[in-house]
Amino acid sequence: MQVNIISNKIYARSDDVILAGYPKNGTNWLDQVLNDLEITAAKYTEEEINERTNITNELFVMPRLELGDPEKFKRMKELPFRRIIVTHLSPEVLPKSIFKSKAKILLLVRNPKDTAVSYFHFHNNIPTLPSFSSWDEYFTAFMHGKLCWGSYFGYLVEWNKHMDDENVMVITYEELKENQTLGLKKIADFFGFSLSEEEIQTVAEKSSFEAMKEKSFKTHGTFGKILFRKGIVGDWKDHFSEAQSKEMDRKFEVCLAGTKLGEKMKY
Ligand code: PPS
Repeated sequence: MQVNIISNKIYARSDDVILAGYPKNGTNWLDQVLNDLEITAAKYTEEEINERTNITNELFVMPRLELGDPEKFKRMKELPFRRIIVTHLSPEVLPKSIFKSKAKILLLVRNPKDTAVSYFHFHNNIPTLPSFSSWDEYFTAFMHGKLCWGSYFGYLVEWNKHMDDENVMVITYEELKENQTLGLKKIADFFGFSLSEEEIQTVAEKSSFEAMKEKSFKTHGTFGKILFRKGIVGDWKDHFSEAQSKEMDRKFEVCLAGTKLGEKMKY
């Protein structure tokens, strides 16, 4: 798959909401959450929501910063509402303006074993991505970062350098699964979305795996069927051999042991 790195043509605004996550960490989930939090907090009218949705759908056909159409991105500059920008990119290749502008960044991470499993099924179900003849072949590719968007471990190491940035917040897929309402509250506080408990609860219900899967054809077309696969923690246990599990634990230790991000992600 061709990834166009057009991102340096994009100028971040200080009110931007940036969602960063390696593929399969749950970015579509959090994308919806952030949109719903923003729409609810801004108290848009029905008409404004429709206008915003139309513009967003047009500009973010494939809503990833690195996959967008440069011509369309030019128009993003003037958008009359808070922009939610989603990316799988590692921080060293993100537009410099994101860090300069002090736009807030939510980094979404997931246990590498579940990320690997989710990405395996994705690779084998999306015709434009290379497929793998076996889990073992794929596992080796994952461990060596030979996949679209490169190595997950390299990605985590790079993001770990930003753990003391005041504009970066980390949330794990697992903590969101355990208590989505609490996770949403933390996210809302970080971005300054002012919402009542009841409003947070409504956003949480709308973004449960089941709710999103049910309306996936409407939101994501045929891609939805592939994307909303299982939505659980621990699916890796049905895929990894004991040796593979240990190998990944060692890699995680080597890359992240004793670091802030490593502590946060401990599984
Ligand atoms: S992509 O294609 O890289 O943008 O995929 P991404 O959205 O990052 O990740 C897809 C995985 O997230 C799961 N998912 C969810 N989990 C819990 N709750 C909700 N609402 C939710 N929505 C999506 C999705 O099922 C993929 O994980 P797996 O393990 O494959 O099911």
